[in-house]
Amino acid sequence: MLKVLRKPVIAGVALAMLLPMGAVSQASASSEPVSALKVKPLDERYKKFFTVGTAVEPYQLTGQDAQVIKRHFNSIVAENVMKPINIQPEEGKYNFTEADKIVKFAKENGMDVRFHNLVWHSQVPDWFFLDKQAKPMVDETNPLKREQNKKLLLKRLETHIKTIVKRYKNDVKSWDVVNEAIDDNPQNAKGLRESPWYKITGTDYIKVAFKTAKRYAAKDAKLYINDYNTEVNSKRDNLYNLIKDMKKQGVPIDGVGHQSHIQIGWPSIKETEDSINLFSSLGLDNQITELDVSLYGWPPVPAYPTYGAIPQYVFQTQAERYNALFELYEKLGDKISNVTFWGIADNHTWLNDRAKQYNNGVGVDAPFVFDTDYNVKPAYWAIMD
Ligand code: GLA
Repeated sequence: MLKVLRKPVIAGVALAMLLPMGAVSQASASSEPVSALKVKPLDERYKKFFTVGTAVEPYQLTGQDAQVIKRHFNSIVAENVMKPINIQPEEGKYNFTEADKIVKFAKENGMDVRFHNLVWHSQVPDWFFLDKQAKPMVDETNPLKREQNKKLLLKRLETHIKTIVKRYKNDVKSWDVVNEAIDDNPQNAKGLRESPWYKITGTDYIKVAFKTAKRYAAKDAKLYINDYNTEVNSKRDNLYNLIKDMKKQGVPIDGVGHQSHIQIGWPSIKETEDSINLFSSLGLDNQITELDVSLYGWPPVPAYPTYGAIPQYVFQTQAERYNALFELYEKLGDKISNVTFWGIADNHTWLNDRAKQYNNGVGVDAPFVFDTDYNVKPAYWAIMD
């Protein structure tokens, strides 16, 4: 299922197309392609600072994808198969087959597992939010029934989390407990996303989620609240206020997951740095959980129609961006424990769907450091430097 839109933040045209040829040289357009399987591992480069992860679908656990995963990453996360809709599509009917494959692969290859995610407003089955008569809980007006619904929903949530966390207790190091709880609209005074979770339970769903995860997770596992646009001041501050409030009430939040679905020209390094420092000042860990660097601004229009149509200078500009980002991550290495790419190579990324969605079905993106043929891009050389 495709996630709908986000980040109306940067205006206008595809920024990359406007930018001049960058200064990051290395592999030029004319040089022979270099396979990701022949170059030094990303995770080794950064092992003093943080683990380096990738998001995968189970089909990528064989063949060339698997080779690249094993060579370059020491942490793994499921792109989709651990989300509520996949794990518990019907009440009480759990499906762990696909999730298990990822955990097994991680164990066999000595990789850490991030679990994504226990609670989200998207990719969650409807049954969670239906009352005993199959009526949407959000429509209930009777206060007594609303209270009963809230109890029922929180019980369902607790059961969901308990079942999953017990199963993977010894396998998972970092849990994305709550995903995307903050609203995008800076005018929303409460700052919280008006999801069914929030409409039915207030912030109790966040409390129950973290407390339940804490109860069943391994002692040294870490619990994260994960969101996108954590670099945008209004959203960042709303997240900060929520966490501060939750921590005051004893809710066991260990860290912030910064999704980091970013762009070549946005957000600034300064905003990124400020955000990590801000959460760190609350005593929290930071993880970069879903990194991809889109070639486009917002909306992603126009988009290059094919991968081959992307000019080399755009890859150079992207390399400069990656260079600046990883320099920052390294500088803040004591505040960041993991950096995860939201994919392996440019042949599989949700951003392609988004580019198509906004460009009448024709468009590609190219957000990673490996290209569609698993060769290294200028961005790879830039971050290995
Ligand atoms: C969010 C979610 C991810 C993924 C992406 C892209 O960032 O956290 O699981 O679905 O959207 O679709």
